[in-house]
Amino acid sequence: MQQAIEIGRFITMEGGEGSGKSTQANILAERLAQSGRPVFATREPGGSPAAEDIREVLLSGQAASFGPLAEAVLFSAARADHIDNAIQGALQKGQWVVCDRFVDSTRVYQGATAGVPRALINALEKLTVGAVMPDVTFILDIPAEEGLARAQTRAEGAELDRFENQELMTHERIRRGFLDIAEEEPGRCVVVDASQPEAMVAEDVWETVLQRLNP
Ligand code: TMP
Repeated sequence: MQQAIEIGRFITMEGGEGSGKSTQANILAERLAQSGRPVFATREPGGSPAAEDIREVLLSGQAASFGPLAEAVLFSAARADHIDNAIQGALQKGQWVVCDRFVDSTRVYQGATAGVPRALINALEKLTVGAVMPDVTFILDIPAEEGLARAQTRAEGAELDRFENQELMTHERIRRGFLDIAEEEPGRCVVVDASQPEAMVAEDVWETVLQRLNP
C-alpha cells in the first residue's frame, strides 16, 4: 500500500526595507532542512521563471508610470504563476515552503501605502491566492528610520530599487500596514522585533515555528 504524503507547511516572511527578512528566511530554511524537513525556499516577486521576468519589470520601475493598480495586477500575476508552478507542487510533495514576501506585501505596498482600494486588493487576492494562504506569517518589525538606514548601507553605491527608494513617511506607513495585518489576523501572523541582533530574531522565529508547526 502506498504511504500518504503529508502536505507541506507554508511560512512567509514579511516586513519593510532593512528588516532582515531575507536573511531570516534563509536561516529558517536552513534550520528546517537541518531538522530533516524537505524545504523549498523562494521569494516574491519571483520564484518561478515567468514571475522572475515580471520581477524585473516591477523592480526596475518600468511599470511605475502605469500606476499602483497596474503594479498590483502585475504583482498578482507573478504570484499566480509562482503558486501554480512552484508553491503548490512543493506543498503537495510535502515540502516546507519558506517564502520571502507574499500576499501581505501587496496589501501593504500597493493597498495601504499606494492607495489601491482594499476591495480591489481583496478581489485580486481571491483570484490568485485562493486557499493557498500561509500557515504562519512572520512580520519582522523595525522602526522605519532604522530599517531605511540598514537598506541604504546594504545598497552602498548600488541603486535602491523602485520600492526602496521612497520617503521615510512612506516607510512609516508600510510598517503600520504590516502591524495592522498582524492585529487583524493573529492566528496567522506573528510580529517579531527585528531591531534585535540577527541571532535573537532567528531564535524568536524558530521558537514560534516549534510552537505552532511542530516540525
Ligand atoms: P524585496 O525588497 O523583498 O526584494 O522586495 C522587492 C520590493 O517589491 C520591495 O520593495 C517591496 C515590493 N513589493 C511590493 O510592492 N508588492 C508586492 O506584492 C511584493 C511581493 C513586493
